[in-house]
Amino acid sequence: MTKATEDLFTPIHKGIRSMIYDLASRLQAADFTDRAASESLLADLQHEFSNAVSATCVLCLLHLHAGHEELQVFPSMQPIDPTLIRALVDDHQEISRRLVALTSLGDQLAASGAPDRRAELGARINREANDLFAFYLVHMNKEEATLVPAMQEHFTDDEMRAMQGRIIASLPPDRLASFLRWMLPSLTTAELVRLLTGVKQGPSPQALGFVNGIGTAHVDPTRWAAVRERVGF
Ligand SMILES: [Fe+2]
Ligand SMILES: [Fe+2]
Repeated sequence: MTKATEDLFTPIHKGIRSMIYDLASRLQAADFTDRAASESLLADLQHEFSNAVSATCVLCLLHLHAGHEELQVFPSMQPIDPTLIRALVDDHQEISRRLVALTSLGDQLAASGAPDRRAELGARINREANDLFAFYLVHMNKEEATLVPAMQEHFTDDEMRAMQGRIIASLPPDRLASFLRWMLPSLTTAELVRLLTGVKQGPSPQALGFVNGIGTAHVDPTRWAAVRERVGF
């Protein structure tokens, strides 16, 4: 049997790193005393447990990603390396605690009118978000260094694609679009070609058009044209 080469983690992690870099960069430059200007930032700091979350909020996507791993990937790896899976689930619980704390600070900021108080809360949000992001970045590196080789050793490419298919099928289209909007421009051309070839050969005839729409809108046009030519669509 040839060794499996599928990697369920690195591509989506690249997208998540781009979300984190972008949000961190906007956070540290934000003027939180300006209510209107900080509104879109606050929307990105909401997460799953809050009311009225949007499909694009960054913390929601970070939370959702950890949930996908716990539901669709970790159970298969649990009997193979229970100690590793325990450590990764502990990380997820720590991430969850920090997401809740950050969302609560965002709620306090949204409810606060006094400029001094808003500036103080904004500075605290910036620090705590950076702590969360640092933790999340280390966590993703850990998953790539441990889970990717372990899964390639214990599962076939078809088995890993089936896990990935279940994750994609569980996502509402607007959430899937939010992940792809960050992931596609974060991949190398070779990774895009591999991904799009898989989509083209996959079971859903609409999927290629869906991904092409997002790629056209978010990937550098020259790069996207090269991918289209190499994949043939
Ligand atoms: Fe994770
Ligand atoms: Fe992950």
